[in-house]
Amino acid sequence: MSHDDFPTDDPAVVTCGLPYANGDLHIGHLRTYVGGDVYSRALERLGQETAFVSGSDMHGTPVAVNAEQEGVSPEDFALDWHERYAATFPKFNVEFDNYGHTHDETNTAVTQGLVRDLDEAGHVYEKEIMVAYDPVDDQYLPDRYVEGTCPYCGAHARGDECDEGCQRHLEPGEVEDPESTITGNPAEYRERTHKFFAVSEFSEYLSGFLDRLEGTSNARNQPREWIEQGLQDWCITRDMDWGIDYPGGEATESPRGGGETADHDLVLYVWVDAPIEYISSTKQYSDRVGADAFDWEAAWKAGASDDHPEGGEVVHVIGRDIIQHHTIFWPAMLEATDHAEPRAVMASGFVTLGGKGFSTSRDRAVWADEYLDEGFHPDPLRYYLATNGGFQQDVDFSWEKFRDRVNTELVGTVGNFLYRSLLFAHRNYDDAPIADATSDEVDARIEEAIDDVEAAVNDYSVRALGDAVTDLARFGNEYIQRSEPWNLVDEDPEEAAQVIHDCVAIAKAIAVLFEPIAPEKCERLWAQLGEDDSVHEVTVDAAREGPAGDLAEPTELFEQIEDERVEALNEKLESRVAEAEASDEGDAGDADGDESGEESADDATDDEATDDEATDDTDMTDIEPLSDDRISFDDFQELDIRIGRIEEAEGIEGADDLLKLRVDLGAEARTIVAGLKQLHDVDNLPDTKVVVLANMEKAELFGVESNGMVLAAGDEADLLTTHEDAGPGTKVK
Ligand code: MSP
Ligand code: ZN
Repeated sequence: MSHDDFPTDDPAVVTCGLPYANGDLHIGHLRTYVGGDVYSRALERLGQETAFVSGSDMHGTPVAVNAEQEGVSPEDFALDWHERYAATFPKFNVEFDNYGHTHDETNTAVTQGLVRDLDEAGHVYEKEIMVAYDPVDDQYLPDRYVEGTCPYCGAHARGDECDEGCQRHLEPGEVEDPESTITGNPAEYRERTHKFFAVSEFSEYLSGFLDRLEGTSNARNQPREWIEQGLQDWCITRDMDWGIDYPGGEATESPRGGGETADHDLVLYVWVDAPIEYISSTKQYSDRVGADAFDWEAAWKAGASDDHPEGGEVVHVIGRDIIQHHTIFWPAMLEATDHAEPRAVMASGFVTLGGKGFSTSRDRAVWADEYLDEGFHPDPLRYYLATNGGFQQDVDFSWEKFRDRVNTELVGTVGNFLYRSLLFAHRNYDDAPIADATSDEVDARIEEAIDDVEAAVNDYSVRALGDAVTDLARFGNEYIQRSEPWNLVDEDPEEAAQVIHDCVAIAKAIAVLFEPIAPEKCERLWAQLGEDDSVHEVTVDAAREGPAGDLAEPTELFEQIEDERVEALNEKLESRVAEAEASDEGDAGDADGDESGEESADDATDDEATDDEATDDTDMTDIEPLSDDRISFDDFQELDIRIGRIEEAEGIEGADDLLKLRVDLGAEARTIVAGLKQLHDVDNLPDTKVVVLANMEKAELFGVESNGMVLAAGDEADLLTTHEDAGPGTKVK
């Protein structure tokens, strides 16, 4: 890899974090895939030879747990999702050069080869470790099969990551107070022999690597802290059937491991074979198009090709939750096996809803399919995801913000310029107007936009790629306004022809420079401009060339989103979010990640396991162990818990689960919204005595302000009440 500015003479590989093949894609995931697609298209427009690859992540507990839940084999389950993803990405104009999966032959062979190299180079040793085990189910509990307390920050954590707290990757045996996510049984730790990759030997290398690494600053800086705290070696095997087998032959006996050999079947940890799919997917592409068109070995292996002694320019596009895997473990694996090191890691912020993480199990998400089913074109969402906030910032999705960006920038600025200038040109000069050359002023402005695009690529800023174009369109609008070609047509036809030529030149530059973000729209624009090749094939040089000739009748490129549409979409989304919230509240025993604000799809689908298992309240195995986290009496006294009497209960329009209650609390009557509608006979509720947390913070649900919280037990929302005659307002203490 070089650190020269793009475009370089080395082949580039842009990768996207592989989606776990375990559930529907939402627009949070799309931030990774749109980001990668935009970036790789931009590299290509600059003339950089680029392969854009990814694949489905088929292994590991995120897939196995969900497959088990559905009662199908992990292979069938994951393949089904894989096929759906492969069909979904092109619908968002995310066009991978190769989209494979981690369970295919290529990845199995490449993974086993790489691990064998790692082992033979002496970087793998065996060690006895404690592994979580469910004695009732007689099952080992790797990774997502177990949860407990993070030993670093005390947060509730999954077996392999502190997802609600410090975000650390957790090694087997680390999580405290382990319990099975499948049965809720307390787990015990048992000794097992496992294989370890000696990551700690690479601390110095990794420090230097981070100094060289390009991309977003979060990916370059966060890992330094982990290195300073001391890197732990990394357990690379798991007690599972589903996965890629540890390659035949035993680990070399390392002086550090005590030399004992694992006597049981081990598969590789999912995070070993997942990033290797980046290489395998590039290889599949290379095999398909031929090494002359794209040489995967030159890209991935330093020294494989004389022309590219340092390998290619590898750019990883991921979400910020998987920085550690891409800046510590993965580069150490590459370095240990003589691969080229990645040039850049671009780690995006999360997409959230109402400030909280998406939740697959609670349907708190905007789904990829849902967006398309609403009849929206993919390119506006691409624009929104690519340009709303800096790449590293979290983006809180709302249909209003989406509408504002679309209406103001895509329709108002870019679309408006294109339509007014192309319509005018078509009406007045349809068979090639036009002046001999673009004016100096406009020529210079187009050059500036090309510079902006080059700078954006070299700054790894997809947002700046969008700004480069909206700025150019803004200039176009201003230029046409001040030049008034409609007056010049009669007064000075030659000058009018010049202005129109300039505007068409700007439109052409927009088509080329905006192609990475809005590929389908720009292809249509390209045709309107009378160009006959594809805008996906040209480089930024085409933006300098000026108009080609015959203009087609223009149509408006982007559609305005009406307010009523947004209102309807909002209502739909809010009702889902409110229901998600109500079910959170009613869910006494559900300690999931939602409240912490962050939850990625795989996290969420794991919740499904817990949700479904918890429905039968009488089954003791489903009861959560009592909490060891004690609170003080003072803390308890802060809770203003009162007896109330329900006076009225009625449904809320648009909300399936919620009731609006009028509750007498002695001193006053309050309006309280509660998720009771499906679980109680509404007519029987008035006069029921309930227990209310009176100083719960207020919340607005479906336009109704809820002023307190009615306490209920379990998933069936069994209402708490009193046995004697404590009346409304009586304090519970
Ligand atoms: N399978 C792993 C990645 C392996 S890479 C060798 C994984 N899968 S995932 O399905 O959970 O996520 C896929 C991609 O989507 C990741 O880049 C992840 O960071 C990203 N995102 C998932 N949820 C997201 C949001 N809500 N917002 C932004 N990006 C998110 O992680
Ligand atoms: Zn933690």
